[in-house]
Amino acid sequence: MQIEIRETNAYPDQKPGTSGLRKKTRIFMQKPNYLENFVQSIFDCLPEKEGKILVLGGDGRYYNRQALQTIIKMAVAAGFGRLLVGQGGILSTPAASHLIRKHRALGGLILSASHNPGGADGDFGIKYNIDNGGPAPERYTDAFYRRSKEISEYRIARIPDIDLDRIGEHPFGDTRIQIIDPVDDYADLMAQLFDFGKMRQALSSGRVSVCFDAMHAVTGPYAKRILEQELGAPAGSVINAAPLEDFGGGHPDPNLTYAKALVDKMYGPGAPTLGAASDGDGDRNMILGRGFFVTPSDSLAVLAANAHLAPGYRQGLKGVARSMPTSKAVDRVAEALGIPCFETPTGWKFFGNLLDAGKITLCGEESFGTGSDHVREKDGLWAVLFWLNVVVATGKPVADLVREHWQRFGRNYYSRHDYEGIDLKTAQGIMEHLRSQMPALPGRTFGAYKVSAADDFSYTDPVDGSVTAGQGLRILLEPEARLVFRLSGTGTEGATLRIYIERFEPDTAKHGQDTQEALADLIELAEKLSEAKARSRREGPTVIT
Ligand code: G1P
Ligand code: ZN
Repeated sequence: MQIEIRETNAYPDQKPGTSGLRKKTRIFMQKPNYLENFVQSIFDCLPEKEGKILVLGGDGRYYNRQALQTIIKMAVAAGFGRLLVGQGGILSTPAASHLIRKHRALGGLILSASHNPGGADGDFGIKYNIDNGGPAPERYTDAFYRRSKEISEYRIARIPDIDLDRIGEHPFGDTRIQIIDPVDDYADLMAQLFDFGKMRQALSSGRVSVCFDAMHAVTGPYAKRILEQELGAPAGSVINAAPLEDFGGGHPDPNLTYAKALVDKMYGPGAPTLGAASDGDGDRNMILGRGFFVTPSDSLAVLAANAHLAPGYRQGLKGVARSMPTSKAVDRVAEALGIPCFETPTGWKFFGNLLDAGKITLCGEESFGTGSDHVREKDGLWAVLFWLNVVVATGKPVADLVREHWQRFGRNYYSRHDYEGIDLKTAQGIMEHLRSQMPALPGRTFGAYKVSAADDFSYTDPVDGSVTAGQGLRILLEPEARLVFRLSGTGTEGATLRIYIERFEPDTAKHGQDTQEALADLIELAEKLSEAKARSRREGPTVIT
């Protein structure tokens, strides 16, 4: 077998964002060696690849298969001992994380741009996960970026394309390439965590029903196997189940706007007990009851409070964590359980150390991400199965579970307002304008609220002591409320300003309000301080969740 060393020119813009390198698909396809350069930069930064295992797969979006063929040849040239590749090039992000852990792989490459639209005019992405199964921490991604700016050659094995659809072994030189079923191992793991026996009884008897919207993305085969085949939900319980290269022209982001088919069903007559959706690569989730939306922040809190009902969490939780902009609902559960609650910057990678060190069991973000120590990524289908387990074990509908939770712990009204696609200068201008006001805010009064603190969030990792600064401007208010402002780190064009608005309401009699109305004063204050509308010349946010 021959290994070719090919010359290449470095690119200045291969800096990984919140979750790997994401660009327009055309950039990957048209800029010479754009993919090869980044993959080689990663391989160059990894120690001792010889004989090690590398997990490979993606969310099935356009260019997934083609990119995978290139990566396989480069991994062979890099000297990996074994490549575990999902059949058809498919692996959900959580399933890849599990495979890395189960097989003690050196790491994995996941091809995905998550919830961003796919297709030739959409987005493509690639991220590296390390041996704990989690996203590469910044010390890795910084090294990849540095290497990508100086790279001058890459190595590739001269071997034919692999048949990605045929399960089995394809040995090349010292490398064993194994095409594996993408669902098997993941399905086994779920069966260990949840009460499949009781869930099967409830679903197959029709006592509990479910509708899972796979949004034509990667979770279709996972949900079909687990919900319909293993748990006996009637055929058709999983909708939009076939993974398509362009996600059927849709935007595979599980929220009230994009998961429309599901939302219509859940707010219509004859809605099933539980509605749920997942995103492009299967790590996000949205949970709905009949005519009821569960905010991701509340979902994390309700799961934490009911975790003991699932066999995998019966021993209790060691601790919980949430990203800083996520609502503080879970903090109250942690307090009641007498366990620690950690506040991390945005992005799943910050949970990795806490999970590895055994400091937390559950964690989540407001951006439809929930997970636990079973893998090192957030996990969409896992969250859905967890909810199903809780619904079956308590015999209560979703809405009752959440309302009773608010009665016990109080309600954190919460909303995020996004200004998408504004130009970078304008977005930075808004942040600078806010930043300049921060020192003078504490002590000032705005209507019913008094500012108790204002800062730029900085995180000191309690495990390795590393400091991550500049993670979002926060304004804390009394009575308990909060405004947070930050710029997105996952976009591929322009900038997105995210404004997070939260208020705690202890009074049960006031738990039935519309969220935007309950937060109206704070939304107004956010605008007064940021001038987001005026500066971006917009009528308002493009997305409200
Ligand atoms: C967004 C979410 C963040 C999540 C990330 C990857 O990042 O806000 O919570 O971890 O996507 O799914 P952002 O665009 O805000 O940087
Ligand atoms: Zn995702």
